[in-house]
Amino acid sequence: MTPELIPVLSAEEIDLLVSDLAQRISSDYQGRDLVLVAVLKGAFIFLSDLVRKLTIPVKIDFIQAASYGSRATSCGQIRLAKEIGVDIKGCDVLLVEDIVDTGLTIDYLLDYLRSFQPRSVAVCALIDKPERREREVPVAYVGRGVEKGFLVGYGLDHAEDYRHLPGIFHLKL
Ligand code: IMP
Repeated sequence: MTPELIPVLSAEEIDLLVSDLAQRISSDYQGRDLVLVAVLKGAFIFLSDLVRKLTIPVKIDFIQAASYGSRATSCGQIRLAKEIGVDIKGCDVLLVEDIVDTGLTIDYLLDYLRSFQPRSVAVCALIDKPERREREVPVAYVGRGVEKGFLVGYGLDHAEDYRHLPGIFHLKL
């Protein structure tokens, strides 16, 4: 059976959400030393759109946790596949994530980032999917809450497919 793609957010809707987040972040972090740390690979498109809409200077780095791979559920085991390379001690850090699902990844990454003694660490996620949440994680900036379903497009993948789609879709296998 061919997988079905049900539209959730169009490219235009995502653009508005990202503009709104960029406006809030620019205003909240005015005059601060902000480092955006994006979680690979899913957040790569979100980060690139977000930074171009910010009106404040920022530094950028990437981090990678072990991903879902071809699985549609988290096994609960997180490991770091790529460490940060920028010195974040004393800086304000914004962890940029595509989607918060169980919260295990963000929980793990927040602990990791805090070990470098930044001034503050907050989370910005394009999608908040609280249905399967296992860890209460503080997500300061949320683009859109989505009740359930496995989402693809705009950087989000299923077995490395669909990342290139400009919109976000619910994938029905
Ligand atoms: P968590 O640890 O369960 O919160 O999962 C975080 C990671 O799982 C995200 O960064 C995504 O890479 C992946 N993920 C969770 N839900 C989805 C989804 O609906 N589509 C694609 N990837 C997802």
